[in-house]
Amino acid sequence: MSCKTLSENALKILMTANPYRKCYFTLKAFNQWQNDQIPEIGESICIEHPRRPNKPTILLPKFMPRRRGLNKKNTRIALLHSLAHVELNAIDLAWDIIARFNNYNLPLSFYNDWVDIAKDEAIHFLMLSKRLKELGSKYGHLEAHGGLWDAAKKTSHNLIYRLAIVPMYFEARGLDVSPKMIEKLKNVKDEKSAKCLKKIYFDEISHVKIGEYWFRWICEKNEMNPQETWKNSINQFFRKKIPIPENNIGRKKANMSIYLS
Ligand SMILES: [Fe+2]
Ligand SMILES: [Fe+2]
Repeated sequence: MSCKTLSENALKILMTANPYRKCYFTLKAFNQWQNDQIPEIGESICIEHPRRPNKPTILLPKFMPRRRGLNKKNTRIALLHSLAHVELNAIDLAWDIIARFNNYNLPLSFYNDWVDIAKDEAIHFLMLSKRLKELGSKYGHLEAHGGLWDAAKKTSHNLIYRLAIVPMYFEARGLDVSPKMIEKLKNVKDEKSAKCLKKIYFDEISHVKIGEYWFRWICEKNEMNPQETWKNSINQFFRKKIPIPENNIGRKKANMSIYLS
């Protein structure tokens, strides 16, 4: 299939089940977009669910096995495997935003940002896959949960809601836990895994920042208060009241501190 528009590229990637091919097509589309070889954004395309490989088996979050002690190789493999799964979801989430939401009169820079994010997520997935291989495992060898795509489905009707929940809540939560995980990996002398997580952490700060920028951009265009809109979105999404997270360095760098006061 030859893809003339950015939406068609997004659809092709979303419908590619093999994770390595998904990454390959993502990096190819990123290069073509950078070199003006994709001339237009195209029509809005909405899919119900991206295609995925047969493995890993998807479980509900509450059925995921709990593993403790990063000094054990199997626990480190489980951690890297769950992160690889998050990254695979993140590739699809970036392409879904590009394909789905083109009815907000968004400038070209919006699409540039999300193509760039999709490229980062593909690199993150490939980096973690490589590390899993070095540790004698592979993406698909363990179970994974489908929580992130559920968030995509619940926010499929509204870009403000999507940005408030996906980059500004779920990705921002990654900024809370990453520094501690990096420290723990260093403590057990797994420098290679720590290095992977450090690269991801820095890139994710920019993803949250981009999410926040566009969220605020749309709120301002619609004369909505960003802080109130974010809090209302979070309260609507979660059935029970969730604690407001700590305002740490990662969140400050991502411009999320204004939402936590
Ligand atoms: Fe990522
Ligand atoms: Fe990200």
